[in-house]
Amino acid sequence: MTPQNIPTISHIAIIMDGNGRWASINGLSRNKGHEKGTENIQSIVQRVSELKIKFLTIFAFSTENWSRPKLEVSNLMNLLFDSINKQLDYLINENIRVIHIGEKSSLPSHLQKAIYQCEQSTKNNTGLTLNVALNYGGRSEILNSIRKIVSNNNNLSPNQISFEDIEENLYTSGIPDPDLIIRTGGEKRISNFLLWQSAYSEYFFSDVLWPDFTSQDIDKAIDTYFSRQRRFGKV
Ligand code: IPE
Ligand code: IPE
Ligand code: MG
Repeated sequence: MTPQNIPTISHIAIIMDGNGRWASINGLSRNKGHEKGTENIQSIVQRVSELKIKFLTIFAFSTENWSRPKLEVSNLMNLLFDSINKQLDYLINENIRVIHIGEKSSLPSHLQKAIYQCEQSTKNNTGLTLNVALNYGGRSEILNSIRKIVSNNNNLSPNQISFEDIEENLYTSGIPDPDLIIRTGGEKRISNFLLWQSAYSEYFFSDVLWPDFTSQDIDKAIDTYFSRQRRFGKV
C-alpha cells in the first residue's frame, strides 16, 4: 500500500437497522425493539468517542419511515424525545457536540424543542460531533440544497452552480464525508442515507441486529476498514 492510500478515519456513519426483527425474534413488540435499540446508542457513541474519531452520524428516522403505522411512528418520536433528554448530561460530561441533520419542521414540536436545546447546550463541546439523522432523506437534502442556492442568488446561470455550493447547502455542511458507513441488521442497501456524501465511503454490512450491536462489533468494522485500499479512482 502506498502511503497516500493508507486509510485514515474521521467520520463513521451508522444505519441502525434491525430493531423490529430483534423484537420479533425475542417475542416482543416492535416498540420494545425500538426501546432496546435506542438504549444501545450510548455504548456505541462512547466507543467512538474513546477512539477519538471526530464525527459519528447515526440514522434514527428516515423521511420514508413516516409510512409506518401511526402508533409505531408516535412511539418512535416519544422514544427519541426521552432519549435526548436522558442523554443530555452524559453528552455534556463527555464533551460531545450534537447536530441534527434532517427536516426539523415536520417533527412534533416537543421533539423540535428538545433537539434545539440539546444542540444549544452542546454547541461549544470540542470532542466527538454526533450527527443525529432524524427525518432525514438524502434526496430531499440534495433537492433542498439546490433550491437554496437558486433562491439565494438572483440571475444565477446553471453552470455557475459548483460542487462546493451544493455541499455548503447540505445539512452536513462543514462536516467531512463519512469514511466508513456501517449498516446493521443484514440488509445491503443505502435506504436514502447520505447519498451525496457517500460517493467514496467504504461500506461495512453487519448481520447483527442493532439492539445486539456492541463495541466489539464496531471495532471489527473499523479493523476491516483499515484493511481496505481506498483509491478514489487513482491506481
Ligand atoms: C431500525 O429498525 C429503526 C428505524 C428504522 C426507525 P427497524 O424498525 O427498521 O427494524 P427492522 O428492519 O424492521 O428489523
Ligand atoms: C433505514 O432503515 C432507516 C433507519 C435505520 C433509520 P429502514 O428499515 O427504514 O430501511 P428499509 O425500509 O429496510 O430500506
Ligand atoms: Mg429496517
